[in-house]
Amino acid sequence: MTQFSKKIIDWQKQKGRNNLPWQMKSAYEVWISEIMLQQTQVETVIPYYLKFIRKFPEIKKLASSPEEAVMSLWSGLGYYSRARNIHKTAKIIFKEYSGEFPRDFDDLVKLPGIGPSTAGAILSLAFNAPGIILDGNVKRVIARYKGIKNPIDDNQTQKEIKSFAETFLPEGSFRRYSQGIMDLGSILCRPKNPSCNLCPVSKNCLALKNELQEIIPCKNPTKPKKERNINWLLISSNNKILLRRNENEGIWKNLWLFPEKGVFSNENLQLLEEKESLPDLIHNLSHRKLNISTKKFSIKNKDRLKIDRSHSVWVTKSDSVKMGMPKPIKEIINNYL
Ligand code: ADE
Repeated sequence: MTQFSKKIIDWQKQKGRNNLPWQMKSAYEVWISEIMLQQTQVETVIPYYLKFIRKFPEIKKLASSPEEAVMSLWSGLGYYSRARNIHKTAKIIFKEYSGEFPRDFDDLVKLPGIGPSTAGAILSLAFNAPGIILDGNVKRVIARYKGIKNPIDDNQTQKEIKSFAETFLPEGSFRRYSQGIMDLGSILCRPKNPSCNLCPVSKNCLALKNELQEIIPCKNPTKPKKERNINWLLISSNNKILLRRNENEGIWKNLWLFPEKGVFSNENLQLLEEKESLPDLIHNLSHRKLNISTKKFSIKNKDRLKIDRSHSVWVTKSDSVKMGMPKPIKEIINNYL
């Protein structure tokens, strides 16, 4: 075993995170946590993870539930294709693998939503088998330790980091090592102000030696995000509001949103009584910046409004909690109803 891996393993035992709710659990639980952790911080994931496992304690229950039930538990967590892929993968594992999680890298990466890094996480964390996690934390630790100054997202750099990661794999302690290198990245080897004085591998860290720890990882300049303007109508009638299921490809597919102005005819719009404009919101997605304006309207007799019943429903605030909705919709309902 390399000195690097040994020191990380020893450090993990003393100073790492050892009471996360998905640790030492089944492959199913590790998988759910890893999908949630792909784009979301640990503290945000924990309550979502606990609720998810309470509702779907095993893969059979998940595979036999409708997609809508999964989307509703994902409400507010973002990157909703993760939830759709979880549902697809649960069905595949239930049907093609008799409900048993595969232990083979090539089988794992064929499953929707599971890429090489998540497959590596499942192998190492669930099965204590050789598997490489290459998330942002791990890439930063290796790039700094090896003094890699090239842009971190370039293909060539990724290959270089992966090959170092392979040499660090410690026979027999894959689980502890994987957790340790992630913990080190998150607790000490932070993007800004890393705590090099506490780091178990600082002695041989090339970034520290050359005072490059604030420069590495080097990033390519990011392009400004494309912007999109959204005009929502929050229409209420007595204690109900109108929601519309979004069937467009792209963002928020199959989630429940407020209707946009464009879906109504002038005749319909004339039935609405304008109340107030809510404060504008900016919502950032990975590739888009959404500028959201919402106007509140009311209508006394909701049955006069001609709505497309296959997409639209009138619901109470408490009904809406059970529906799959993105974060800005949840926030508007919570703050302005
Ligand atoms: N990020 C991705 N996987 C993680 C895990 N298992 N623990 C903490 N952070 C993570």
